[in-house]
Amino acid sequence: MKVGIINVTGYAGIELARLLLQHPHVTLTSVTGRGEAGKRLPDVFPHLYRLPLEITPELGTVDLAFSALPHKASAEAVAPLVRQGVKVVDISADFRLPDVQEYEQWYGVKHAAPELLKEAVYGLTELHRQKIGKCRLVANPGCYPTSAILGLTPAVDNGLIEPDIIVDSKSGVSGAGRALSIGTHYSEVNENLSAYSLGGHRHLPEIVNELKVRKAGFQPRVTFLPHLVPMTRGILSSCYATLKPGALPEGKKGIQEVQRLYGDFYKGETFVRVTEAPPETKHTWGNNLCLIYPTVDVRTNRLIVISCIDNLVKGAAGQAIQNMNLMLGFPEAAGLQAAAVYP
Ligand SMILES: NC(=O)c1ccc[n+]([C@@H]2O[C@H](COP(=O)([O-])OP(=O)(O)OC[C@H]3O[C@@H](n4cnc5c(N)ncnc54)[C@H](OP(=O)(O)O)[C@@H]3O)[C@@H](O)[C@H]2O)c1
Repeated sequence: MKVGIINVTGYAGIELARLLLQHPHVTLTSVTGRGEAGKRLPDVFPHLYRLPLEITPELGTVDLAFSALPHKASAEAVAPLVRQGVKVVDISADFRLPDVQEYEQWYGVKHAAPELLKEAVYGLTELHRQKIGKCRLVANPGCYPTSAILGLTPAVDNGLIEPDIIVDSKSGVSGAGRALSIGTHYSEVNENLSAYSLGGHRHLPEIVNELKVRKAGFQPRVTFLPHLVPMTRGILSSCYATLKPGALPEGKKGIQEVQRLYGDFYKGETFVRVTEAPPETKHTWGNNLCLIYPTVDVRTNRLIVISCIDNLVKGAAGQAIQNMNLMLGFPEAAGLQAAAVYP
């Protein structure tokens, strides 16, 4: 199978190329870019010396295309491909929100292909793998939503929590992309910690939409607060919600029970692991794992879930390949089994 990457020169695109190099069943045959068009991939990214492909302005003929373009530009580029019958995994936000008005309100642009919203499948693989396997357009989830939704879904499904939820997330700087900006300058970010988007981050509706369909009558009210931390990769989301009265036994038994419920929920999953101690971003550096640690603050009767991913792998390129594997009929974990880089 031939696959291609639209916009290989951003962080998500280049991470796709690195991971696809290790894939046993597909060949990366075409990569596009604007500013670096005409150059060979290794001349721009020397770590990809084994991929001597030319960066071209247009995509060549492929069986499946990944788009790692910014939103709006992505829908414009992938809509003609989908219509021609090429399968697409879109890493941008363009097909994540099924309601066009909600999309246009949060992203402030007109949707370039609203007619495709109905058929796009939200690509949180562990929760939607049946639909992903049968579709031709996957909306790969946002990095923050991947960590928050995987962290909270077992609690919602088991009826453990009240609808008031806080998701406090910390992200490495690569989450903001490769394009230059004052806010991600070394001297602005280094030895600094800052909260942003307090008025509402674009990933909030994704989190709410996915949690509210889990259980009839559950109407989540989510406060989502992202922070920028001086590291390259990684997201750590700390999620809090008040437990429903009697949802868990009191004291230590409640902690054991919530860990058992989460363990059962993710039993058999290759890429989601329920841990016995709070995970750290370094435990997922460069690999496709989501590590989740649920516990209870017994003094306040609050559920605490720590959820941890690499924003460029499970939060972008890795999950995109997991979805590609399902769309093309390969084993879901093909090409994604590498251990994290440590230390
Ligand atoms: N970074 C993450 O952790 C992450 C996680 C999940 C999803 N995503 C999504 O993945 C997509 C790419 O993100 P990224 O972080 O990889 O971005 P990025 O590193 O900032 O890459 C952006 C690159 O896209 C090119 N570009 C910008 N506007 C363009 C346009 N209108 N048409 C064509 N090319 C354009 C620019 O290269 P040239 O000037 O050379 O064309 C720029 O270098 C976004 O939709 C983002 O939301 C990112």
